[in-house]
Amino acid sequence: MKNLLVTGGAGFIGANFVHYMLAQHDYRVVVFDKLTYAGNLNNLKDIANDPRYAFVHGDICDAGAVTKAMQDYQIDTIVNFAAETHVDRSILNPDAFIQTDVYGTYVLLEAARQFDVERYHQVSTDEVYGHIAEGKRSRESDPVAPRSPYAASKTSGDLLVKAYFVTYGLPVTISRGSNNVGPYQYPEKVVPLFATNAMEGKPLPLYGDGRQMRDYQYVLDHCEAIDLVLHRGGVGEIYNIGTGTELENIAMVRIILETLHKPESLIQPVADRPGHDRRYALDISKVKALGWMPQYTPPEAIRKTVQWYMENEWWWRPIKAGDFRAYYERQYGERLRASQKS
Ligand code: NAD
Ligand code: TYD
Repeated sequence: MKNLLVTGGAGFIGANFVHYMLAQHDYRVVVFDKLTYAGNLNNLKDIANDPRYAFVHGDICDAGAVTKAMQDYQIDTIVNFAAETHVDRSILNPDAFIQTDVYGTYVLLEAARQFDVERYHQVSTDEVYGHIAEGKRSRESDPVAPRSPYAASKTSGDLLVKAYFVTYGLPVTISRGSNNVGPYQYPEKVVPLFATNAMEGKPLPLYGDGRQMRDYQYVLDHCEAIDLVLHRGGVGEIYNIGTGTELENIAMVRIILETLHKPESLIQPVADRPGHDRRYALDISKVKALGWMPQYTPPEAIRKTVQWYMENEWWWRPIKAGDFRAYYERQYGERLRASQKS
């Protein structure tokens, strides 16, 4: 493993992974990214002059561009973070999700096969398992049961990756991560949205009864586990990555408000997300058996993240002042007005 292609490396987890890998190893790291609304070169600003890093502006659905990057940089390992990633946007408009998360994965798998890579790693999500009943935890061998267009598109990607392993013997691994929090997360996902709204004195739109449960892991824990899976994971295997403990959304909101010393009156219950999965919960024993342990609990991860947003207004204020405003109105305008009336 010498020359890594990190697709989606200008996004939240991808950028943290690039930082992590350059700090841990002496590899060449080539970011291949379309720079959608979620991609941001500010996320990679502090490594821009590292001679081991290169950036290619491209779409993973464009086979010619992918092939050129593979050739130009003699890529031997692909780590695929590139995706449309937000459940709410997938409900508003699924099209880009099917393109990137399904067709784009196919294009990368074909390139991996053509260039005979040492490893193709697919970054996936716990959402492929669907809603998990109290008392249960998802294991890697469980059937998939996605329920949102986002989850269904990610599941389709996973199935293609598995098929390329079985059919062509491509050396693949898949990781299924729980909700990540940390630096550089686009402020549409719940923790950065609520932290920045609270800093701006705006309401925090909490869906439904706020009792949904998520496993909020710190992004660098996730990156460390992916690195471990790349080096020690079994070919053809899937690994769940998370903390193995969940928080209700209402508890997550209270941690954010306490960290910021803001009042609970900012919480505004709004109409629920259609098909909202109530609980995700992972069994993480398989990745732990490789010798990994998360360093941060969900409350610690959330506090550390809120702290970062407090200290890095330069990063998020321009995002929230831009195209984000149109999305916010479309997603929350009616919901917030309706809940104020009731
Ligand atoms: P993100 O939305 O912050 O970033 C996605 C990146 O992919 C952006 O830089 C974007 O420009 C790029 N991209 C999108 N379409 C592309 C295309 N067609 N070609 C090239 N680049 C493209 O996402 P994230 O939160 O960093 O998630 C990264 C990966 O991790 C995704 O595959 C996601 O499904 C998975 N994941 C995320 C979480 C989470 O909590 N954020 C949890 C588990 C798994
Ligand atoms: P999100 O960050 O969108 O991640 P995912 O849906 O992929 O888990 O949402 C995390 C949880 O927070 C989820 O249960 C939905 C809830 N949520 C709200 O209550 N209000 C919001 O405005 C958002 C974005 C999410």
